[in-house]
Amino acid sequence: MDRESARDRIEKLSALIREHDYRYYVLDDPEWSDAEYDRHFRELEKLESAFPEWMSQDSPTQRVSGTARNDLAPVRHDDPLLSLEKVVEASEFEAFDRRVRERLGREQSDPIAYVGEPKYDGLAVSLLYEEGVLTRGATRGDGLTGEDVTANVRTIRSIPLRIRGSHWPRRLEVRGEIYLPKEAFRALNQVIEKEGGRPFVNARNAAAGSLRQLDPRVASARPLAFFAYGVGRPFQANLPECHSELLERLREGGFPVTREYRRLIGVGPCLAYFRGLLERRNELPFEADGAVFKVDEVREQEQLGSVARAPRWAVAFKFPSEEVTTVVEAIEFQIGRTGTLTPVARVAPVFAGGARIAHATLHNMDEIARKDIRVGDTVSLRRAGDVIPEIIRVLSRQDSGRGPSVDWPRSCPVCGAPVEQVPDEATIRCSGGLHCPAQRKESLRHFSSRAALDIQGLGEKLIGQLVDTGLVKTPADLYRLDVARLIALERMGPQSAANLVAAIEQSKQTTLARFLYALGIREVGQVTARLLAESMGSLEALLGAQEDELLTIEGIGPVIGHAVWVFFNDPGNRQVIDRLREAGVQWPNVELISDAVPGRFAGALFVLTGKLATVTREEAETFLREAGGRIGQSVTRKTSYVIVGENPGHKLDDARRLGVPTVSETELLEWMSKPGLP
Ligand code: IVH
Repeated sequence: MDRESARDRIEKLSALIREHDYRYYVLDDPEWSDAEYDRHFRELEKLESAFPEWMSQDSPTQRVSGTARNDLAPVRHDDPLLSLEKVVEASEFEAFDRRVRERLGREQSDPIAYVGEPKYDGLAVSLLYEEGVLTRGATRGDGLTGEDVTANVRTIRSIPLRIRGSHWPRRLEVRGEIYLPKEAFRALNQVIEKEGGRPFVNARNAAAGSLRQLDPRVASARPLAFFAYGVGRPFQANLPECHSELLERLREGGFPVTREYRRLIGVGPCLAYFRGLLERRNELPFEADGAVFKVDEVREQEQLGSVARAPRWAVAFKFPSEEVTTVVEAIEFQIGRTGTLTPVARVAPVFAGGARIAHATLHNMDEIARKDIRVGDTVSLRRAGDVIPEIIRVLSRQDSGRGPSVDWPRSCPVCGAPVEQVPDEATIRCSGGLHCPAQRKESLRHFSSRAALDIQGLGEKLIGQLVDTGLVKTPADLYRLDVARLIALERMGPQSAANLVAAIEQSKQTTLARFLYALGIREVGQVTARLLAESMGSLEALLGAQEDELLTIEGIGPVIGHAVWVFFNDPGNRQVIDRLREAGVQWPNVELISDAVPGRFAGALFVLTGKLATVTREEAETFLREAGGRIGQSVTRKTSYVIVGENPGHKLDDARRLGVPTVSETELLEWMSKPGLP
């Protein structure tokens, strides 16, 4: 084929494939079979490799591009991604409608036109199109700054690399939700479990993990999907005057838009829509956790504006959380990374919200005593969204065979070492240290977790096997594993073994902050790890630092400073660190942070949980507010930090689940004692 005909054919094939994707993903009405698609796709690939000069950046073959990275770059959103006010009762929704009408000066008899949409339980993304071409994809982050996930977004086939049609603004930001369809979620977890990995708790976590994948090739193997629900800067020329029309325009532009949205006039139809959606919730092919109602007229939206981080023209009406009944089979103790014991109830397995539940957190001993939960009791259990299930109350108690009231064990249920009281805390710790297999497993889990060295595929079961067979004692041992040793393990095939070895290899390229966090130093969470990295600049500096030198870092006080110093001066720890570095774990140089920033918590949103021992809650809140921070009541994805006191409640679970950094009282006190960055 000559150059000119190759060019024509490449253009033709690209257009045909784009059209197929549009028909398949947006119209849900494909004309080609899979085989036909593959045939065209392969022909295009062949031609492009013979005539690379004719391959365009947005060619359908170029969805997977770029290589794995260490971290995702931050992206500042021009127009912040807002969150939504939430309601859970019809009366609250009616109050929302009243406020809207008052602000717009509308009579009772003059109802508002709303659009009702499902509230997708996925991740908000912003897709930037310049001159019609997708140039950037970013996560929502805290609404102001997200992460650059362009390479992964490009692999999502329902997201057009080029907008269809013309008359679009030259710079258009399409917003929507990336999610994993229920079916794909189930299939993905099956594969993970078969390979001995730790399955995702729910579709949203799976979608988040996949989107924030550092390797676009892995992301491309996860069938993520997308629904568009809006645009950035909606009040601009060339865009429709109603939200409902905007959704139709977006669909014409090649974006998947739900068929579930409705234009609804007044409160009554909105409530009916909500009930209808709730009834069909389980039949929907995607997870939804409520409905979103938006004022349809863009002019009215503009008039209403927004408060804080939420628009006044939209509201999320959440589905009630699902409650189920089951029986407590046992009360067990889980041993954390630092040895602390947490009571958990093993229950007769039940399904709630599409997930099988076999355990429920009991939070702490006080909680068990207060609710008087014992083995044999019939309890009602709640799983709100993807929160760790918890027991709400005991429904009925067996007259005979009711277990004794629960007390702390005297020795560690895993290693048998005596337990010790944690000074000033209502908790108990196993004294076995890293000799305790449970602590060993937890510290390996922490080391390989997503926020730490992010070793893909190293799940709980596998860690259990590695520790139990004695193959791995410290994180450094991971780097000596090879395929031969791994395939000796039960249920481990050559392919999985090779994948794991590759993932371990990949984890060697990290950042100093991640590395410090991964070490699991007491008192050092993600925030402090970053602070240490950015103020000391290198591991050598940290290893050589004296305790008082650490204390000169703004935000590090005596307790953290001491814990860090002790950790780095322990010969065992130093040996593990040396071995990790010898194995090739490395990071790029760190940019040192400059000195104190005014209003150091400007824009940060804090949530407090548990009882603070040394300051009052008011004192803590005043301090945070005066430094520019805000205080929230519940933990959401926009929470910047959760301050954790004694006997923390479910907010701590929420923080862990959402990956919100937690701050101990000690860390807080240190912030309070010194000026500077957190
Ligand atoms: S509109 C200004 N529409 O809900 C309006 N958001 O609390 C802001 N979400 O993280 C968003 N489904 O990702 C909108 N149909 C929908 C949505 C939706 C889910 C999420 C969104 C954001 C959160 C806002």
